[in-house]
Amino acid sequence: AMAQDKFKIGLILPMTGPFASTGKQIEAAARLYMAQNGDMVAGKKVELIVKDDTSAADVTKRLAQEMVVNEKVSVLAGFGLTPLAFATAPIASQSKTPMVVMAAATSSITQASPFIVRTSFTLPQAAVAIADWAPNNGIKKVVTLVSDYGPGIDAEKYFKDRLLFNGGQVLDTLRVPMRNPDFAPFLQKVRDLKPDAVYVFVPSGAGAALMKQFAERGMDKAGIKLIGTGDITDDDILNSMGDVANGVVTSHHYSASHNSPLNKKFVAAFEKANNGLRPNFMAVGGYDGMRVIYEAAKATKGAGGEALLEAMKGQVFESPRGPMFIDAQTRDVVHNIYIRKVEKVNGQLYNQEFATLKDVKDPGKSR
Ligand code: DHB
Repeated sequence: AMAQDKFKIGLILPMTGPFASTGKQIEAAARLYMAQNGDMVAGKKVELIVKDDTSAADVTKRLAQEMVVNEKVSVLAGFGLTPLAFATAPIASQSKTPMVVMAAATSSITQASPFIVRTSFTLPQAAVAIADWAPNNGIKKVVTLVSDYGPGIDAEKYFKDRLLFNGGQVLDTLRVPMRNPDFAPFLQKVRDLKPDAVYVFVPSGAGAALMKQFAERGMDKAGIKLIGTGDITDDDILNSMGDVANGVVTSHHYSASHNSPLNKKFVAAFEKANNGLRPNFMAVGGYDGMRVIYEAAKATKGAGGEALLEAMKGQVFESPRGPMFIDAQTRDVVHNIYIRKVEKVNGQLYNQEFATLKDVKDPGKSR
């Protein structure tokens, strides 16, 4: 096919290094979407070009530049971490290329370029929900423990403000390095402060190490509960966490056990195509991102640039996570946030949703 007969999507992800699980989940979901929906849109052949940025922001930016200039991609997509999305935003603006953020979740990312559309989630959406749940469920004194970068700062701020508003107390706000974190001294500090709970945000993939150290220090036995946004009980690794994870309550937009026919179909197809790997919230951000791209391409008959961007805004559809839409003003995702508790289902650990907050907009946009 000639170049103009193709519709190219440049998918840039961490495929190696500590955040490789995010890349693996999103690539697998994008390929599943294409397998289910065909590789033709608006009479053009869809070509998915996947590149590994190793989670280094300068690499993400360079790859994006190459994709735009050499490959002439219609869309940039992926972005496994906040700094990788921020580094690429100027490329999207300068080249007028829509940029679909499928993973990164710091609130302000969508303000870095008018060409950014997000299908993942925002930390404030999840953080506010668990800060409403906690004080009604015996958790009044909390220590926060977050990864020290964009999403962690959002997770801390929106949780803290809301818990204080609800009459709770934040005894301390601890921040751990984002790369190669040693949680031990921070967990010791938490133990000494004796809160009702420690509230945690760590990025997808890092939760297992934290859970292990939480158990080793006997925090649960000391009566300190663990709560957080759902990143900590990430479906990719939840089942390997063991008993310490059982009973942990979190807030998030996606659980692999979300009870809908569409999600059951999605999970079964994903697991079948990936040797039993369970899809996590990263996978669903990638899957829904492909949906937004495909439908926009159909609506604009394969045109790129601003027309394609406009056709992404305002899309309303059912996702495996539940109902969602792309707010036309903010270009950010609006979806339900669920409160979930880890439970054993047929011997496997799952985040079992038990309460729903409907159509949650990013609280970071209304200030
Ligand atoms: C980000 C990365 C994650 O893995 C996650 O779970 C949430 C946010 C981020 O860098 O934006």
